[in-house]
Amino acid sequence: MTRTILLTGGAGYIGSHTYVELKSAGFDVVIVDNFSNARADVIDRLAQITDAPVTAHKGDVLDRTFLASVFARHPIDAVIHFAAKKAVGESVEKPLDYFETNCTGFSNVLMAMRDANVFNVVFSSTATVYGEPQSLPYTEDHRLAPVSPYAQSKVTCETLLRQLKDSDPRWTYGILRYFNPAGAHDSALIGEDPNDIPNNLMPYIAKVATGELAQLTVFGDDYDTPDGTGVRDYIHVVDLARGHVQSVAKLLDEQDTHVLNLGTGTGYSVFDMLRSYERACGKALAYQIGPRRAGDIDCFYADPTTARDYLGFQATRDLDDMCRSSWNWVSRLRNS
Ligand code: WQD
Repeated sequence: MTRTILLTGGAGYIGSHTYVELKSAGFDVVIVDNFSNARADVIDRLAQITDAPVTAHKGDVLDRTFLASVFARHPIDAVIHFAAKKAVGESVEKPLDYFETNCTGFSNVLMAMRDANVFNVVFSSTATVYGEPQSLPYTEDHRLAPVSPYAQSKVTCETLLRQLKDSDPRWTYGILRYFNPAGAHDSALIGEDPNDIPNNLMPYIAKVATGELAQLTVFGDDYDTPDGTGVRDYIHVVDLARGHVQSVAKLLDEQDTHVLNLGTGTGYSVFDMLRSYERACGKALAYQIGPRRAGDIDCFYADPTTARDYLGFQATRDLDDMCRSSWNWVSRLRNS
């Protein structure tokens, strides 16, 4: 019996890559997205990659009537919830918007699930729930110390899931705490496609490489790291997507709740990424050293052993793979 997965935010960066991996694993998939941070033609490109029609409904997780209609039309077995705002800096400026979309939106999805007797959910969380590291690598039992409204919204949703399960054991959930997603699909038909000037490092470097932006500003080179620039655990978006397939399969097969870091366990600096991207695009990329960005910390990376031991999850792609796939994607995007 083919199982059906609902992807909220499924037209977005991680959602679209997860769509491809779910279809490849034999699932039926339904996308809902308001397309506020995704191009409409991503659906056509997903159809091209999977060589099959895509079931997608445009709507908002704040619209409970819309959500109920989706569950009425499709035999959903589990939900993977991506639909959320995710910019740390923006969340500081707009905490109410972040609470509404990330918390109220998620509770709407959970209520629609409950009303449809669907109790399996994978939740897209983030390593920023850990806050300032007390120890590294981050393990799943590291204390939660959210600093930004974005990180707080994710902790609020994680707490809601725990309370929901305590109230009704039919619920099972997978909480996946991402480190730094990067890269693009091997087909170069989907990838990260930010609407405006990127906050994150790789999409910014990508726009320098295509000439859309003049130079990278390195936010500080006086951190306590080998080359003085910030170190992060970048994980290829396709590896991340495959982790979601393994998580939702575990829920459906074993009804087993889990909280996992999805990272590689390897930290790379800003200069590591810049050099790797130069190798990928075959040219020197301009940069300047600027002041530290408020809220940034020197270094963080994952302890990936729980996901490995529990799911058999193993990231297989390295920084050069991420940069090469990103360069192929943005080059194609620029020429399309
Ligand atoms: C990485 C490194 C910067 C841009 C954030 C969110 C996290 C997740 C991923 C959602 C840092 C440096 C960056 C630039 C730079 N998002 N940098 N110049 O801040 O680790 O994580 O995005 O889940 O929740 O917090 O990622 O890519 O912004 O920064 O020097 O123009 O690159 O200082 O050291 P970050 P990032």
